[in-house]
Amino acid sequence: MASAIGGLAAKAGHIVEVMSRDPAKAQALAERIGPRALTREFGAEPAGHIVILAVPYLAVLDVVKHYGEGLADKLLVDITNPIKSDFSGFLFPKSSFGAQQIAKAVPAGAEVVKAFNTVPSQALAVGSVGGRPLDVFIAGDAPQAKARVSAFTESLGLRPMDVGPLTMAWTLEHACMLWLGLMTHSIKHTNFSIGVSLPG
Ligand SMILES: NC(=O)c1ccc[n+]([C@@H]2O[C@H](COP(=O)([O-])OP(=O)(O)OC[C@H]3O[C@@H](n4cnc5c(N)ncnc54)[C@H](OP(=O)(O)O)[C@@H]3O)[C@@H](O)[C@H]2O)c1
Repeated sequence: MASAIGGLAAKAGHIVEVMSRDPAKAQALAERIGPRALTREFGAEPAGHIVILAVPYLAVLDVVKHYGEGLADKLLVDITNPIKSDFSGFLFPKSSFGAQQIAKAVPAGAEVVKAFNTVPSQALAVGSVGGRPLDVFIAGDAPQAKARVSAFTESLGLRPMDVGPLTMAWTLEHACMLWLGLMTHSIKHTNFSIGVSLPG
């Protein structure tokens, strides 16, 4: 997902910073993305305002804790799907959801916006399926933060679709199970994305 989002972002003219526990991996990804990609030490305050949390859900709370105040005032994009590794269900009770746990863990001033979690990396790397731009569902509580993520998404050639407040992240996380169900029982490959059809 870091490669797909970073690649689209660099192509759109953004500067991308890649951060990994393993500096060699960060360097390799930055080189693959191209001259608009830089690296920064894992745990150092990111230079940019928008930070994509492209790590597994089981790691994300530790990663947020590790960055600590370095994430204050940042716009954190939660792309995680907190599902079990065998895809049999969620990692916590149905009353909770991943974005809620992340929002509780971030430093004051940081905003959490859920986005990109319903878009598979294969399709995202291309930006479209069958020539149609991908829909990126966005949930968050701060209108300005959502507007910023929408503008960023649009700049990547994707279609942002605001679905409401951060509590809607619960629904977006469950949509991952919909995607997995479709992949397993109907479509039988991974090059598809869940989207909305509108007239016209
Ligand atoms: N793949 C998809 O199609 C897709 C679609 C939508 C959403 N998502 C979500 O996007 C997120 C990333 O998925 P992905 O497929 O890109 O995963 P991935 O290819 O496995 O990459 C995960 C990244 O997280 C890093 N990481 C793992 N544990 C870490 C830790 N404890 N501390 C710091 N970094 C850690 C890994 O670093 P190392 O290389 O050093 O281990 C790796 O760079 C996940 O939350 C996933 O649910 C994935």
